[in-house]
Amino acid sequence: MIIKIIVGILVVFAVIRLSKKLFHFQLPFVEYILDSDLRCKGQPPERVISRSGVQKGMTILEIGCGSGTYTIQAAQTVGKSGKVFALDIKPQALLRLNNKLTQNQNPEAGEICPMLENACKLPLSDESCDLVFMVSVLQEIPNRRKALEEIWRVLKPNGILAVTEVMVDPDYPLKRTTIRNGEDAGFTIGEFFGNLWEYTIRFRKPLNINIKENIEAR
Ligand SMILES: C[S@@+](CC[C@H](N)C(=O)[O-])C[C@H]1O[C@@H](n2cnc3c(N)ncnc32)[C@H](O)[C@@H]1O
Repeated sequence: MIIKIIVGILVVFAVIRLSKKLFHFQLPFVEYILDSDLRCKGQPPERVISRSGVQKGMTILEIGCGSGTYTIQAAQTVGKSGKVFALDIKPQALLRLNNKLTQNQNPEAGEICPMLENACKLPLSDESCDLVFMVSVLQEIPNRRKALEEIWRVLKPNGILAVTEVMVDPDYPLKRTTIRNGEDAGFTIGEFFGNLWEYTIRFRKPLNINIKENIEAR
C-alpha cells in the first residue's frame, strides 16, 4: 500500500514537472504551500537568508518573492539602513505579501518595496543592488538568459547573486545546471551550501567588467 502511494506521488510529480517544462504555467494556490509551517521548517528563512549572504545595510532585490516567505527575514537582516525590493510577476502573491506587511510592521527591519514586474525587465537602475536572491524561481523563468542579463545589470561590481533550489519544487535543477546558467551569464561561482536535496549557490559579478562588453562577449 505504502509503495503504491509513493509510486503515485512520484508519477504525479513527474507529470507536473514535464507539463511545466512544456507549457510554462504556474501552479495555482502554490503560495499556501510555500508559506506553510512545514516548508519553513524544511527550508528555514534564517538559513536561506544567511546562506544567500544577506548583511546589514545592503540594498537587495528578491526575484519571485511570492508571498514573502524569505522577504521578511531579508528585511530584518538588512535592518533599517538597508532596503529590499520584492519583485514578482503574480499579483495574488504580492497581495499576500502586502497583507503580511500591514499586519506585522517591524520598526527595526529595512523597507520592503513590492514590485509587480517581470524578472526580464527589472525596474531598477544599473549597479544599484548589493545582492540579488531567488528561491525556487530561476528555472520557472522561460527566458532565463534575459533575466540573468538584467540581474547582471542591476548588481554592483562584486555584487552577489544567490540562487536557492529545493528538490520538492517541480522545476528543481541539479547543482550543475544552476552553475552552468550562472557561468553562461558571466558570473563567477562563490560559495556553495547544502546538499542534493536543497542548496544555495552564491555567484559573484566580477569586478571591473563593463556591462556592454560582457553582454557583447556572450
Ligand atoms: C515557486 S514560487 C517561489 C516563491 C518564493 N520565492 C518562495 O520560495 O516562497 C516562484 C515565484 O516566482 C515567480 N515568477 C515566475 N516567473 C517570474 C518572472 N519572470 N518574473 C518575476 N517573478 C516570476 C512566480 O510568480 C512565483 O511567485
